[in-house]
Amino acid sequence: MQRKFLWFIFFPILVLVCWITVPSQVTSAEKGGRSETCKMCHQGHYASYINSPHSKTAIRKSPANAEGCESCHGDGKFHIQKGGGGGIDIFIFRDKKVDGTAKSAKCLDCHAESRTLTHWDMGAHKTAGVSCDNCHTVHSGKKMNLKTPQPELCLSCHRSIRGQIAKQSHHPLKEGKIKCTDCHDHHGGFGDKFIKGGSVNDLCYKCHAEKRGPFMWEHPPVEENCKTCHTAHGSNHGKLLTNRTPQLCQSCHDATRHPGTLYTNFGNFGGASQSNRMFARACLNCHSEVHGSSGPSTRGKTLVR
Ligand code: HEC
Ligand code: HEC
Ligand code: HEC
Ligand code: HEC
Ligand code: HEC
Ligand code: HEC
Ligand code: HEC
Ligand code: HEC
Ligand code: HEC
Ligand code: HEC
Repeated sequence: MQRKFLWFIFFPILVLVCWITVPSQVTSAEKGGRSETCKMCHQGHYASYINSPHSKTAIRKSPANAEGCESCHGDGKFHIQKGGGGGIDIFIFRDKKVDGTAKSAKCLDCHAESRTLTHWDMGAHKTAGVSCDNCHTVHSGKKMNLKTPQPELCLSCHRSIRGQIAKQSHHPLKEGKIKCTDCHDHHGGFGDKFIKGGSVNDLCYKCHAEKRGPFMWEHPPVEENCKTCHTAHGSNHGKLLTNRTPQLCQSCHDATRHPGTLYTNFGNFGGASQSNRMFARACLNCHSEVHGSSGPSTRGKTLVR
């Protein structure tokens, strides 16, 4: 009973205090806008903001040098006057009724020119209604303002990829040696499926330059598309292969002419065909230069070392 009574006195006073401390429309353009007033009621959000680069006055175009909290949350004058009542006018990111484009627009006001964001409008994320705040918040206190670090961030929506990178052979994403964004322009770009590079091969050559050649003897499917034989994320066949050898090779090469099994008898090949290792590696035992060869004469031509 008494508590309620106290509240009746306290609340109007609080509103009055706010009313007085709220700067007028004119001064809201001052550095940081009404952030100090917001702090009174939103200490947690204020604290995380202070830990983000957005609060740094040393950064010329930061919100700290513009409207502070209101650079992203919109004009908070009436919200404050009402003591937070109903969140009137304030821009609420987690409000599901507000569409993604409107949310991103708040950030693009300042970031449209950021190096990686120039193609945002062309990207599948934008088109699918994904907005900046699905991945970022200035209230996380984390690097890049990310809600969660990679790869968790991406896997929270792309569940099927989680299964792929758990397979026996995989790019070391779980291990933290590479990131999803080493291969994908998640902010948007020209590449199909957001890949960094004009083609799948351009992407792969960035880290596997030795596969580009030049080779004296090339293997046509290699220059065409690494994905003919490899998966990008993970596979249960070794070395990220789409299939096991010899089936992988035999999907293009006639098996009857030259079977690569244990039973093949290549007399002129030093009895390699009798080796047990043959069975697992099949064709690769002899054709080890599967990405291209610079070996002399006919040997090289047939991708044999
Ligand atoms: C007098 C106290 C007070 C002040 C000052 C104040 N707010 Fe609020 N704010 C509230 C209350 C109370 C709510 C409603 C919280 C709820 O519904 O859970 C609220 C809600 C919000 C919300 C929506 C939160 C949600 O979870 O729905 C945002 C965003 C917000 N305020 C931002 C601001 C900003 C930015 C400022 C400064 C310009 C500010 N507030 C100043 C009290 C205040
Ligand atoms: C650079 C843009 C930016 C600035 C500056 C900013 N916020 Fe936020 N704020 C966000 C985003 C984005 C979210 C949603 C993030 C999330 O889901 O956690 C958010 C969430 C909130 C929420 C929860 C309700 C909601 O909108 O989802 C409150 C309350 C809030 N901010 C208050 C503040 C206060 C107070 C300040 C200043 C001290 C401030 N914010 C500064 C971008 C900003
Ligand atoms: C008033 C301008 C302004 C607004 C609005 C703004 N930012 Fe920023 N932001 C900056 C500036 C300036 C920097 C620091 C320089 C830079 O990295 O470009 C920055 C830095 C960042 C960074 C890099 C952080 C780091 O650790 O290097 C991210 C991520 C970011 N902002 C995301 C957002 C998101 C998401 C929104 C919308 C919710 C937003 N920004 C709204 C001006 C703004
Ligand atoms: C799908 C998740 C996701 C979305 C959506 C997203 N970002 Fe990012 N953003 C990231 C990640 C992850 C990084 C860090 C990249 C890295 O570490 O290589 C980043 C980095 C940044 C950076 C700092 C470095 C840079 O690349 O310039 C800024 C600024 C930024 N984002 C702003 C935005 C803005 C503004 C939006 C909305 C228009 C947005 N982001 C949408 C995930 C996202
Ligand atoms: C909030 C959920 C969400 C998050 C987080 C997210 N994505 Fe997406 N992503 C989507 C949606 C929705 C699409 C478009 C529909 C689809 O193709 O699945 C998409 C599309 C993509 C595509 C293109 C797929 C295609 O078929 O064109 C790639 C690649 C991608 N995302 C990578 C990433 C990466 C990398 C991250 C982390 C930095 C990430 N995504 C984080 C929801 C998300
Ligand atoms: C080594 C480079 C590389 C890494 C690392 C990588 N991707 Fe991919 N990703 C690709 C390539 C290549 C494609 C296929 C492009 C094509 O088919 O044209 C692809 C396709 C995709 C697609 C489209 C759907 C599909 O399954 O083909 C999604 C979504 C995606 N990646 C998400 C992710 C996420 C999330 C991560 C991090 C966990 C990630 N990728 C890490 C190279 C990579
Ligand atoms: C950002 C760098 C990067 C890019 C781009 C990249 N890779 Fe890798 N790749 C790696 C790393 C790191 C490893 C692990 C090497 C190690 O463990 O010694 C690896 C390993 C591999 C392996 C061996 C896997 C195993 O099980 O031993 C294959 C095959 C491979 N990558 C193919 C590709 C293909 C195909 C592409 C293009 C779609 C590609 N990589 C793009 C960094 C990259
Ligand atoms: C014709 C099928 C085929 C194509 C196309 C192909 N590879 Fe391979 N790749 C293989 C096979 C088979 C292995 C396993 C070799 C072994 O175990 O000795 C392999 C192994 C690898 C490895 C790991 C071992 C090593 O040699 O470093 C990398 C990395 C790799 N490939 C990258 C690439 C890249 C990059 C491309 C595209 C430029 C590509 N591959 C195209 C069949 C192919
Ligand atoms: C996507 C189809 C495809 C796959 C899969 C493939 N190749 Fe090839 N391979 C070719 C084509 C096309 C040529 C060029 C044929 C020509 O010049 O007559 C070729 C050429 C060769 C040659 C040289 C033949 C010659 O006469 O110069 C060898 C050896 C070879 N491949 C072995 C392999 C092995 C081993 C594998 C499995 C790791 C494999 N190939 C997988 C398409 C493929
Ligand atoms: C014991 C070693 C060995 C094994 C195993 C082997 N090859 Fe060969 N292969 C050779 C040699 C040597 C030549 C060259 C023959 C010649 O010049 O007449 C050749 C030639 C080829 C050629 C080009 C000429 C032709 O006859 O078509 C292709 C394609 C080929 N091999 C594919 C394969 C495939 C696919 C496998 C696995 C199913 C395989 N090889 C297994 C040694 C081997």
